[in-house]
Amino acid sequence: MSVVALIPAAGRGTRMGGERPKQFLPLAGSPMLAKTLGVFQRAAAVDEIVVMVPPGEEAYCREAIVDRYGFSKVRTVLAGGATRQASVAAGLSVLGREVSIVVIHDGARPFVSDDLIGRVIEAARTTGAAIAALPIVDTLKQVHEGRAVTVEREGLWAAQTPQAFRREVICAAVERALADGFGGTDDAALVERLGLPVVLVEGHPANFKITRIGDLEMAEEMAALRDRAAGAPSGAIN
Ligand code: C5P
Repeated sequence: MSVVALIPAAGRGTRMGGERPKQFLPLAGSPMLAKTLGVFQRAAAVDEIVVMVPPGEEAYCREAIVDRYGFSKVRTVLAGGATRQASVAAGLSVLGREVSIVVIHDGARPFVSDDLIGRVIEAARTTGAAIAALPIVDTLKQVHEGRAVTVEREGLWAAQTPQAFRREVICAAVERALADGFGGTDDAALVERLGLPVVLVEGHPANFKITRIGDLEMAEEMAALRDRAAGAPSGAIN
């Protein structure tokens, strides 16, 4: 019974505005996706990794990231789909029955920790579905016709990844979503629709998703600081 990490990294990164997808952009000298994969490579709780990249980028990812950095746990690099959900579905379709737990993590969250991955997997083993999340600390506003209205934040959490599931749970959830034409913004939303419980594990603010240009600048500084703290030369995987 094994634990497989699915890393959706098949976005085109249009909000970032660059020519290359954001997950391939360098962070303190090495591609963002290499930073993310490095954490899963070192995570004791993870046996194998499957990566989904934009169609046509499979060979680049294999050569310039997986082989170059020696990520021996990466079993498959495959083409993702038009949406994140379709990319996750593509990853699930190559998993066999020997897989007990699937842990899904955005390629664009390179500052995830081994500890958080382990805690989410452990919670999923006992409950079936567990996700990293953070309580909302900012006051939330909803804008109607140009006017802001405060939304009660009590009990609200912001979902992150990793999100881990028993394989049968996430496969059933993705199949049902496909049959119903439902699109969710995370994987857990599909499980919630089945009426199954999803438990939250406290995430970390450093585990943010690199989405806009400002995020990339912050990530660059964080990556450089971490490399320096680890005594590694620029470009080393943290
Ligand atoms: O677009 P967003 O920032 O929400 O993407 C989150 C993660 O999902 C990123 O790592 C991105 O590469 C991935 N993704 C994907 N397939 C898509 C769209 C996004 O694997 N079609």
